[in-house]
Amino acid sequence: MNKYVLVTGGAGYIGSHTVVALLQQGYTPVIADDFRNANKIVLAGLRSILGHDPLLYPIDICDKQALTALFDKYTFEGVIHFAAYKAVGESVDKPLEYYQNNLVGLINVLSLLQSHQVKNFVFSSSCTVYGEPKGEKEVSETTPKQLPESPYGYTKWMGEQIIADFHRSAPEIKLMNLRYFNPVGAHPSALIGEFPIGKPNNLLPFVTQTAIGKYPHLTIFGNDYPTRDGSCIRDYIHVQDLAEAHVAALDFLSKQQEGLLEAVNIGTGTGTSVLEIVAAFERVTGLTLPHVIGPRRQGDVIEIYANATKGEQLLGWKARLGIEDALRDAWAWEQHLAAL
Ligand code: UD1
Repeated sequence: MNKYVLVTGGAGYIGSHTVVALLQQGYTPVIADDFRNANKIVLAGLRSILGHDPLLYPIDICDKQALTALFDKYTFEGVIHFAAYKAVGESVDKPLEYYQNNLVGLINVLSLLQSHQVKNFVFSSSCTVYGEPKGEKEVSETTPKQLPESPYGYTKWMGEQIIADFHRSAPEIKLMNLRYFNPVGAHPSALIGEFPIGKPNNLLPFVTQTAIGKYPHLTIFGNDYPTRDGSCIRDYIHVQDLAEAHVAALDFLSKQQEGLLEAVNIGTGTGTSVLEIVAAFERVTGLTLPHVIGPRRQGDVIEIYANATKGEQLLGWKARLGIEDALRDAWAWEQHLAAL
């Protein structure tokens, strides 16, 4: 019998890698994605990797009627909910669109879980819920959350709050917030990867697009922070590891008899600075990456990385790949795009 899993936003960056991982582990993913922030190239990539077209419904998850029809059609083993806007700067300019899309979408999915007796749910949360860690830079799931800096951050923070309140009203459902650190890299086949629309906001796509010649140089947002080399430190997690974390989360939830709500950090446990990323990229590719030091970016967290032990203890999951794997794969993907 097919174990159907609804993957909202399954044509996106993390979603598409998770679709592959789910299929490899015997699940049948059903993608709901209206391609507003995804690209058909990823679909072609998925087709090549899987050897067939994935089940795909081009619906807006804020369209409750369309989403209900999907829950009527399939008996889902679980739902992995990615579909959301994710650009911090844009969220400041378009707060209502962010709250509308990210929160209404989540509420629709949760209410359908309940009405259709779907028991397992995984939410794309973010380390943004920790804000700038006070004191210790390694954060665990018990590190107190802080109010976010942007509407985007609030949608993740409020998403977790909505899920906590939902848990009290529907204690039979098993719920997991995966708090991603910084997803990077691409599938090792280079057939799927991150597809930023317009000028990238995140570091890695800006690095690879600079290396391919789309931008004259990378600007490093500040080198006067109180860190080992003055640039900000993050925990960069390979998207393949991240995808596997979702399968591990779903496997874990499926095995539980009782409802629950857990949050799990998905990171490597190691922090890497922006300057270290530049050096590693040059080492891995043999290229010189033009870069200049610019001013600090407003709202940037100085240093944060995961305590990743809960993921290992609870889910039996841990990151296998390192930053050099991620940079190599991201670069291969950028070259694949350039050759299309
Ligand atoms: C940002 C968000 C985070 C969100 C994530 C979604 C902030 C403060 N945080 O994470 O909430 O979950 O995006 O994708 O905006 N950098 C440069 N030059 C560049 C681009 C980035 O130096 O051209 C630096 C940044 O200053 C930062 C690091 O690279 O130190 C990573 O930046 P980015 O990829 O934007 O991720 P976050 O800021 O960690």
